[in-house]
Amino acid sequence: MRYNPRQLYRRLYYYSRPYLFRVFLAMGASILVSGADVATAKLVKPFVDDVLIATEKGLVNLVPIIVIGLALCKGAGRYIQEYFIKTAGQLVVQDIRNDLYAHSMALSMGYFSRSSTGNVMSRILNDVGALSRSAADVLVDGLRESFTLIGLTIVAFQSDWRLASIAFVVMPVAVIPASIIGRRIKDNTRRGQRTMGNLTRVLQESLAGIKVIKAFGTEARETDRFKTENKRFYHFIRKVLKYDSAATPVIEILSSLGVGAVLWYGIHRVSQGAMTQGDLSSFVAALLMMYAPMKRLTKVSNTIQRSLGAAERVFELMDEKADIADHADALPASRMAGNIDFCQVDFSYGEEPVLQDFNLSIRSGEIVALVGPSGGGKSTIIGLLNRFYDPQKGNILIDGQDIKYLTQESLKQNIALVDQETFLFNDTVRNNIRYGRLEAADAEVEKAARLAYADAFVRSMPDGYETVIGDRGVRLSGGQRQRICIARAILRDAPILLLDEATSALDTESEAMVQKALVNLMENRTTIVVAHRLSTVMHADKIVVLEDGRICETGNHQQLLAGGGLYSRLYEMQFVERN
Ligand SMILES: Nc1ncnc2c1ncn2[C@@H]1O[C@H](COP(=O)(O)OP(=O)(O)OP(=O)(O)O)[C@@H](O)[C@H]1O
Ligand SMILES: [Mg+2]
Repeated sequence: MRYNPRQLYRRLYYYSRPYLFRVFLAMGASILVSGADVATAKLVKPFVDDVLIATEKGLVNLVPIIVIGLALCKGAGRYIQEYFIKTAGQLVVQDIRNDLYAHSMALSMGYFSRSSTGNVMSRILNDVGALSRSAADVLVDGLRESFTLIGLTIVAFQSDWRLASIAFVVMPVAVIPASIIGRRIKDNTRRGQRTMGNLTRVLQESLAGIKVIKAFGTEARETDRFKTENKRFYHFIRKVLKYDSAATPVIEILSSLGVGAVLWYGIHRVSQGAMTQGDLSSFVAALLMMYAPMKRLTKVSNTIQRSLGAAERVFELMDEKADIADHADALPASRMAGNIDFCQVDFSYGEEPVLQDFNLSIRSGEIVALVGPSGGGKSTIIGLLNRFYDPQKGNILIDGQDIKYLTQESLKQNIALVDQETFLFNDTVRNNIRYGRLEAADAEVEKAARLAYADAFVRSMPDGYETVIGDRGVRLSGGQRQRICIARAILRDAPILLLDEATSALDTESEAMVQKALVNLMENRTTIVVAHRLSTVMHADKIVVLEDGRICETGNHQQLLAGGGLYSRLYEMQFVERN
């Protein structure tokens, strides 16, 4: 996906609109700064002609006053300009980051399984950051230097237009190489930022997987991987620096041609009496003072190129469409009864079909167990009900309504999920449980914990419910984490309860207890339980045995045992194992 610069500018402008006041203030102040510079060049003439050569006594005392006055003007102007333009830049960054974050939160699970977390992180942190620096630079430097340049040009032409014309014919020669340099910088920055994304990804991944790295002793391998990416990043930055550093010398060397010619001709004209020493001094001062702004202006164009590269990556993510969004006329569901129907559902994550012509009806209040070999599609069914993904064919109905036409928010309100992968936030136990229903009172949180048999161990922790449990809950045992997740789901108090291997990490005794609690909880709720341990699903109203995305048998425990199919074989095996 490639954007043209015009589109990128328009979108950046959209974000700066709320802060235009700051921008205008900074613009005004920048005129003051360049005004002071231009006045300096202009004042060289009277200084040379009247003070140095004619030695007018009255003017001598004015010199320090003027010098200090100009410095004050310039200083105040520069302060106001820098402060307001940089804060405007940061405010824009803040807004873009917020939008980008909200947008990525709204993207579907499909996007996150396709792209790496580090990549998304890098765009939100690095690229938006790069954008701010350059957006501010462009406005600060670009504006001020353009004003200064225009003012100095006028001074130069006033001093002697013939000389000035010669200078301005020779000067633009420097512009062409500068623009070539700029384009190179843009290309390399884009590639550089992409490798920065890889770097963030490696970092994020290794920190998240630090335990696996330690367990397999692969620290050296990971360090090498990081080094490789880091080197690649340096590689691109080096190219950027090569062109960036070349910009100034190229311009200086090329413009020295002009300066040489101009000085030679200028001195010639002074000796002819066509201009005063003061005029020539003013002219040379103006010309020399043009160096700095010209230099910075070419830098500005480089930063613009660099920021366009970053902007492209930012808006690429911003324009990523969520595969799953609320339908235009989606309705909010009120509290559901919980009749679930899968009707001829076909689903695949990619090429390989996971579910084919899948049908399943669950009546309100029923407990249905999904069992079967790993990879059979059990978690996929749970995910489809949550609308993490949409099926390619067929419909999923709850209370007769296609979930595609419900608002996602109201659908989620009706579902409590305990996922196969427990995830807890690095926060207190209380807040982690409260995640199930944000407005729940403390007493309700504790009641949910009691039902999940989590209350006792939570209370034995140093700060009880206020204990912070570390990244992803590392300070808890696997079984404790699961019980917190179950408490979270209990607190949600939703009509549909989805338990994907929710008790797999519990010992037999606590499983039995949690199971008892869940039995109470399942009353008046529709529950889908996924479990490998068949002892946990024996009491389900209906057991659905899945193999390769197809239902191979259904019935209750007795019926399935009598049937002598896959379920009875699995049950036999687990039974033998235990004895
Ligand atoms: N995000 C994904 N992208 C691509 N393929 C996936 C994804 N998640 C699962 N699959 C594939 O879909 C199939 C069904 O996976 P699913 O997680 O539903 O199995 P499961 O029955 O829950 O297995 P388990 O008992 O091990 O949890 C598997 O072949 C798996 O490789
Ligand atoms: Mg699973």
